[in-house]
Amino acid sequence: MRITILGSAAGGGFPQWNCNCRNCAGVRRGSVRAKARTQSSIFVQGDAGLDGVLFNASPDILEQIRSSPTLQPGRAIRDTAIAGVVLMDGQVDHATGLFMLRERGRPLPLWCTDPVHEDLTTGNPVLKVLGHYCGVDRQRIGLEGAAFEVPGAEHLSLRAFPLSSKAAPYSPHRDNPVPGDNIGMLISDRRSGRSAFYAPGLGEITPALFDLMCGADVVMVDGTFWTDDEMIGLGLSKKTARDIGHLPQSGAGGMMEWLDRLPNATRRFLIHINNTNPILDEDSPERAELARRGIVPCEDGMTIEL
Ligand code: MLT
Ligand code: MN
Ligand code: ZN
Repeated sequence: MRITILGSAAGGGFPQWNCNCRNCAGVRRGSVRAKARTQSSIFVQGDAGLDGVLFNASPDILEQIRSSPTLQPGRAIRDTAIAGVVLMDGQVDHATGLFMLRERGRPLPLWCTDPVHEDLTTGNPVLKVLGHYCGVDRQRIGLEGAAFEVPGAEHLSLRAFPLSSKAAPYSPHRDNPVPGDNIGMLISDRRSGRSAFYAPGLGEITPALFDLMCGADVVMVDGTFWTDDEMIGLGLSKKTARDIGHLPQSGAGGMMEWLDRLPNATRRFLIHINNTNPILDEDSPERAELARRGIVPCEDGMTIEL
């Protein structure tokens, strides 16, 4: 299996267009050593050269496809290596890139849960709008953890698990979370038996979820914030990381504590990194702490073979 990191930043990207936090201003000026990042999305193939699955459709998708030749195999006048799209939630940073795929000749095969389908046909009716272009061939993701496949994505088997996180502000159930607003995905290669657990938005780790993570060769999880009060401290929000469905890396019960308890051989990655997160600064003590613990912050263009 091969994972290509198309985008590794949280909503807004890095640097964010209107932001002058230390990271955003510093990377623009060249005074902070950090890599620019687009909004979070990954592409997974059974092997290099095969068609694969796009997890999330970021508003930056056209730039991401241009930078990743593996997504454009060039076999016909109109072509793509995207066999289908799977959504982890219905947020702007993960779903509005669907508009950019409207030139597709046939309806877009799209997997999402019922609550995400509701959000994307009511509060933010992206799927209805696409009905005026290529159309969407929507497939339902159930929450029972049953394995499913995306036809055309050879060797891959997927299982979804509901996560505690947050629906988008336009969701009819924004303040009344329901299972399926956010999911994590166990992506397995049926030949090798290897697997990756992917959860770009993750607010809480339950014992059952941790067991699942322990069984994966690669764990790629929510890297949005370093501290719970990161946005409050900068005067950018009144809400904590946990309030908006993101488990911070540091502190008691934080992501680093959980990742430390995984089996030694597990490869650990953070994705969906907010522009305010000090781990983006390659010279920061927080980045050094991740390195000490064997945790890798994803970068755009990175590929992981497993
Ligand atoms: C989130 O992950 O919390 C949202 O995507 C934030 C946003 O994009 O506005
Ligand atoms: Mn997001
Ligand atoms: Zn910023």
